[in-house]
Amino acid sequence: MSQDFVKLKFDDGIAIITISRPASLNALNSSVLAELDSAIAEVRESPAARALIITGEGSKAFVAGADIGEMADLTPDEAVAFSRRGQAVFSAIEHLPIPTIAAVNGYALGGGCELALACDIRISSENARFGQPEVGLGIIPGFGGTVRLPLAIGRSRAAYMILTGKLVSAKEAHEMGLVAEVVPLESLPSRAEELARELGAKSYVAVAYAKRMLFPDDEALAREARRFGQCFESGHPKEGMSAFLERRPAKFSD
Ligand code: COA
Repeated sequence: MSQDFVKLKFDDGIAIITISRPASLNALNSSVLAELDSAIAEVRESPAARALIITGEGSKAFVAGADIGEMADLTPDEAVAFSRRGQAVFSAIEHLPIPTIAAVNGYALGGGCELALACDIRISSENARFGQPEVGLGIIPGFGGTVRLPLAIGRSRAAYMILTGKLVSAKEAHEMGLVAEVVPLESLPSRAEELARELGAKSYVAVAYAKRMLFPDDEALAREARRFGQCFESGHPKEGMSAFLERRPAKFSD
């Protein structure tokens, strides 16, 4: 498969995946998801890889979410399948036996926040902003956010983020425990690599078992996908996403 949007490189035992679709703020469309899936498979099959870093291209966005243009016309069944697809790719990241670090270099919204949550540890640049803005689009987080966000920061803070859709700064995300460290943007790659080497030097047997103890409940992910699909039984996703693409406020009247 050609890797137009997802770059994978190996550097002395560290695998680095960069999501690279900057014109759309690295939003996850089907091609990006497929390429990410194949990059993860390559990492899984690389015996020399001791840690993985996932980051975004540029200085503006880590990943600004699932591709809104691609989601606008989904039927409820297609929406469930879309959610399950994203969940499967993110679970593949989570299930890697090696430690994973999200190096969040800008907006991590919707599917971007969920991608960061699928990694074991998040560090971010000072300009990063996190959010689950889906309710403003007429949908719910569908790539694991309703399950992993409360596990990461607790139900109360997760409810605040998911129900208001508000973005939080890197500083606030750090205070909430969503990110472990905040560093200047120019230091993010080197700090991520330093941390990856630190984690990669631990017992990989113990790390793999420790990670497994932290996996979320599969049934909760299945419930999320069903609820994500149910949103599309109403006209709200169409209105919310058209409004975003037309750069106008959404009106959820029916
Ligand atoms: N899906 C598809 N395209 C997206 C996108 C997404 N999630 N996020 C951004 N883009 C596109 C924009 O449509 C725009 O494309 P265009 O130049 O062809 O019009 C381009 O990326 C730049 O985004 P823009 O909105 O112009 O940048 P901004 O600096 O004004 O705002 C954000 C940045 C991140 C605040 C804004 O893009 C945003 O709110 N994105 C959607 C976030 C979201 O709701 N994600 C959850 C999806 S489930």
